[in-house]
Amino acid sequence: MSTATALKTLINIKDLDLYYGTYHALKKVSMTIPEKAVTAFIGPSGCGKSTLLRTLNRMNDMIIGTRIEGKVEIGGTNIYSNEVDVETLRKKVGMVFQQPNPFPKSIYDNIAYGPRLHGIRSKAKLDEIVEQSLKQAVLWEEVKDYLKRSAFSLSGGQQQRLCIARALAVNPDILLMDEATSALDPISTLKIEELVQELKHRYTIVMVTHNMHQAARVSDQTVFFLNGEVVEFDQTETLFSNPSDKRTEDYITGRFG
Ligand SMILES: Nc1ncnc2c1ncn2[C@@H]1O[C@H](COP(=O)(O)OP(=O)(O)OP(=O)(O)O)[C@@H](O)[C@H]1O
Ligand SMILES: [Mg+2]
Repeated sequence: MSTATALKTLINIKDLDLYYGTYHALKKVSMTIPEKAVTAFIGPSGCGKSTLLRTLNRMNDMIIGTRIEGKVEIGGTNIYSNEVDVETLRKKVGMVFQQPNPFPKSIYDNIAYGPRLHGIRSKAKLDEIVEQSLKQAVLWEEVKDYLKRSAFSLSGGQQQRLCIARALAVNPDILLMDEATSALDPISTLKIEELVQELKHRYTIVMVTHNMHQAARVSDQTVFFLNGEVVEFDQTETLFSNPSDKRTEDYITGRFG
């Protein structure tokens, strides 16, 4: 197993074990995730991809009975230390889910929600954030004349870009995407893949995908998991063209999973 070392490390996971009650869901997971790049998590259903993603912004804190051992550092800080403020952490580490989940509010208020929560009151400033975030999520042109409309008036693909814009509006460093395109049609999927390519110049992106082609197209590094363990972690090109573990090869060639 070789790790991607050319880029600067932002996230450092060391010997991470996670238990749901007595169920051992992550087993001695170690990896470094570089900044301003796309890292993809792949592997069969139930192997722990979403679980690991949730440890990166402590979403697992909300699941009763969860226990972790080991270390997750972001920018050198152990995010599980007592001094870490979880709200600040989640501002820095945004998340987008499989199903678009806009708030039952206008397009504008969906984006302004986070900045308002963090104390921004100026209408001019909020207008600017809304426009910038929607532009970054390549949705602005489609919605700029309808900002007061309900977010539910948008198509699924547009709603997902709105959710990305909402995550970007609080100025995160990291964007976690858990199968963010699996509920979308091929054109919307392609739009989001192109968007991810743009966003990686400014953000560190960690994405879970079941779509092998997507991982190969979009990511710089890929991690292959099996039963809560990291089997292989490498540059995407290497992992897909020349996997070092037989189990990786079997998975990416569709022999199991
Ligand atoms: N809240 C929970 N309580 C108990 N067990 C859980 C919980 N969430 C996940 N698990 C278990 O942990 C294991 C890993 O689940 P996880 O959701 O991380 O898998 P995944 O790789 O994301 O799968 P999928 O591809 O189906 O989304 C599974 O066996 C699952 O049943
Ligand atoms: Mg999952």
